[in-house]
Amino acid sequence: MKTLILKINERNPEKEKIEVATKIIKSGGLVAFPTETIYGLGASAFDINAIKKIFKAKGRPGDNPLIVHIADKKEIYNIAKNVPRITEKLIEEFWPGPLSIVLDKKENISDEVTAGLKTVAIRMPRNNIALELIKSSGPIAAPSANISTRPSGTSVEHVIKDFDGKIDCIISSADSEIGLESTVVSLVTHPPLILRPGKITLEQLKKLLPNIEIHDSARGEKFNGKPDSPGMKYKHYSPKAKVILVEGEKNKVREKVRELILEYKIKNRKFYVLLLDDKVKLAKDMFRIFRKCDEMSFDFIIVPGTDEEDIGLAIMNRLRKAASKIIKV
Ligand code: TXA
Ligand code: MG
Repeated sequence: MKTLILKINERNPEKEKIEVATKIIKSGGLVAFPTETIYGLGASAFDINAIKKIFKAKGRPGDNPLIVHIADKKEIYNIAKNVPRITEKLIEEFWPGPLSIVLDKKENISDEVTAGLKTVAIRMPRNNIALELIKSSGPIAAPSANISTRPSGTSVEHVIKDFDGKIDCIISSADSEIGLESTVVSLVTHPPLILRPGKITLEQLKKLLPNIEIHDSARGEKFNGKPDSPGMKYKHYSPKAKVILVEGEKNKVREKVRELILEYKIKNRKFYVLLLDDKVKLAKDMFRIFRKCDEMSFDFIIVPGTDEEDIGLAIMNRLRKAASKIIKV
């Protein structure tokens, strides 16, 4: 398949180009598009065959549901039912933006989108291209634009690497502003739960949902319970290089990392040390660094862990899921 690479200006998306992408979506094709979090791999949320193509192109397990992306807050009521009143406040505060909300689904959302669940995750992204595309195509179901288990694509080069020749169109735009996937919050559980931490932090959500809790698995540790979000149980975000995550008291972590560096040097291994001093910047760069390390055939990525405050929770979640080994000191 020949993939159309469509360069679109984010500030001022060219109408005729949005038209081209819209035609592809409306005729059952797949379009990778930028969002403020990461790139998404989109299809019409109401086209079952197109949805099936997403799973095939990614190699995604069939029981991992997709997020439905909308461009108008009111659209939530066409997709979800029993919407609790607090939802209005949440979307007022955080939409458009990196928050996906899990609600009871309406019948028009197929089992293919939700992987058989009775609930659906909905998000209104903040990126202009995404918004214009959704406005003209209708709701778009989209997972992250990466081959399953690989790091999410945060630049168009990553998406091209994974999907050139496999999907109809890739919209080319700037690198992702945030670089980490959206926060997924379930409002169908009592109390509400963070199923996947992201840019919108626990601290921010607590202001509107004081009783919100973090799902056991959302810290990213190995999880054997019942997954409220099927994505929890899969290996994720993994570069080919082995990620060695060191966690614990700061000084001990530093000492252990120093030891590892020495060990790998002696063994003549190729490694990269991922420093986490600036968490916001790291969130933006992490997946890019993972992919870069693969390109350069690194054997190991050594990561001294960070705290779980603010965006730290999301970073540690991704790192623990990506890690081949977690060393606790
Ligand atoms: O930032 C993002 O969320 C990006 C962009 C493209 O919007 N999308 C993204 O999609 O990260 P994906 O498919 O890689 O991750 C969706 C996550 C998965 O962990 C999935 O299990 C969870 O959301 N999810 C989707 N629908 C759900 C539902 N009904 N109940 C619980 N979890 C759900
Ligand atoms: Mg993903």
